[in-house]
Amino acid sequence: MSDKKQDSNVSLEDIVSLAKRRGFVFQGSDIYGGLAGMYDFGPYGVELLNNLKQSWWRANVHHKENYVGLDSAMFKHPKVWDASGHTSGFSDPLAECKSCNTRIRVDKELEKVGETADEKMSEDQLNELFDKHRHEIACQKCGKKQFSKVRAFNLLVQSNLGDFTGDGSEPVYLPGEACQGIYLNFKNIVDSTRMKIPFGVAQINKAFRNEISPRNFLFRTREFEQADTQYFVSPNQNKEAYEAIKQDRWNWYLSIGINEAKLRWKQHDNLVFYAADAWDIEYEFPTLGFDEVEGFHDRTDYDLSQHKKFSGTDTTYTDQVKNEKYTPWVLETSMGLGRLFMAVLSDAYTVEDLGEGKTRTVLKFKPELAPVRYAVFPLLKNKPELVDKAREMYKQLSEKYVCEFDDNGNIGKRYRRQDEIGTPYCVVIDFDTLEDGTVTVRDRDTTEQKRVKIEDLLA
Ligand code: GAP
Repeated sequence: MSDKKQDSNVSLEDIVSLAKRRGFVFQGSDIYGGLAGMYDFGPYGVELLNNLKQSWWRANVHHKENYVGLDSAMFKHPKVWDASGHTSGFSDPLAECKSCNTRIRVDKELEKVGETADEKMSEDQLNELFDKHRHEIACQKCGKKQFSKVRAFNLLVQSNLGDFTGDGSEPVYLPGEACQGIYLNFKNIVDSTRMKIPFGVAQINKAFRNEISPRNFLFRTREFEQADTQYFVSPNQNKEAYEAIKQDRWNWYLSIGINEAKLRWKQHDNLVFYAADAWDIEYEFPTLGFDEVEGFHDRTDYDLSQHKKFSGTDTTYTDQVKNEKYTPWVLETSMGLGRLFMAVLSDAYTVEDLGEGKTRTVLKFKPELAPVRYAVFPLLKNKPELVDKAREMYKQLSEKYVCEFDDNGNIGKRYRRQDEIGTPYCVVIDFDTLEDGTVTVRDRDTTEQKRVKIEDLLA
């Protein structure tokens, strides 16, 4: 991971702390001391996550004529992971501290001393490279420089699904990546819909990886969600479509309000053997610097050819108009939702100086993404006529938007609470409301308050 720091004073720790304090993200199994690499999305986190998924789904399925959606089962036939190459080659190089047993990812440690551990390297080659730098690499926990030999550690997570004898002869894996479900259904989709090549399939699904050192909040976890599109094209018709897809995805990040200065492209130097090209969109995270949020992979005909070979099912496509039969090529986009969530939260996180040593923390989400769109407050808690009117307003607004009713504490405190969860509008019911049917609407970003007629607000 890059160790370039952000210019601003906001740190990843600030983001993690707000996420916990305000109910966005909790450590998984917190009351048991936590489980490494697992996180739970809290009441506001799940709303933000759902809004992000809906925005992505609308952009990639509903707004595109030649894309359809899919939701495939997470568990798949064991041979799927042989065909994809995961059982044999989906590994990270691991070494263990001989003193305190802490495990390290050797490729990441080598990166820090200016070396690149290529994905194609054998264990022998990795050991040779690691041996050259052993004297520079210290254990992060105990500081000693005594590590075991490097071994390739497979990241697939195994289950005992359907294994009633317990002999584990044909393990069923949890998905190492979401995209395989799309390749498995390519033929079903062609046979059951009007889709003709070129077309795309979009899916949001979970992935599990036995990461050696999960770290940096949602950045590297052992369970995460991927939002994928796989675009099927005829052989060698990849270049132009790849560029168009990249541009389209870049524009989506801007459409959800991400600051363009914090995004950049990075091309892969080391391509896996079947890939024709690979790029990432990176975001400049607080403390961590630029790192990957979404991968773009020009995967040639590898996936459908492999599944044809391993399943024995014909996965070729017949173009009825041109009278051609071929194995389609695949252009993939794969975005980690946890990393996107972290980028959106970091991007929205703003600390405003109010003078006299006072500050205001506010999450400036695009209103469509905010976990709560309207917060409704009665000015005073002990005036039943105001509370009743506020509840009526809350009921009406919540038919269209996610709303929150709050009568706890003084108005200033209630505003601050809503600022910290990013609610764009607070609506206050006061005595004038009962007289003239108007309410005060307070804008999150400017803190300006306007008197608005209830019927205008509802319209
Ligand atoms: N099917 C292609 C694929 O899985 P990838 O680059 O391994 O490609 C795609 O993963 C995206 O999934 C990454 O850009 C990242 O956002 C997310 N991702 C990968 N590993 C992750 C992990 N351990 N924790 C959180 N997100 C992860």
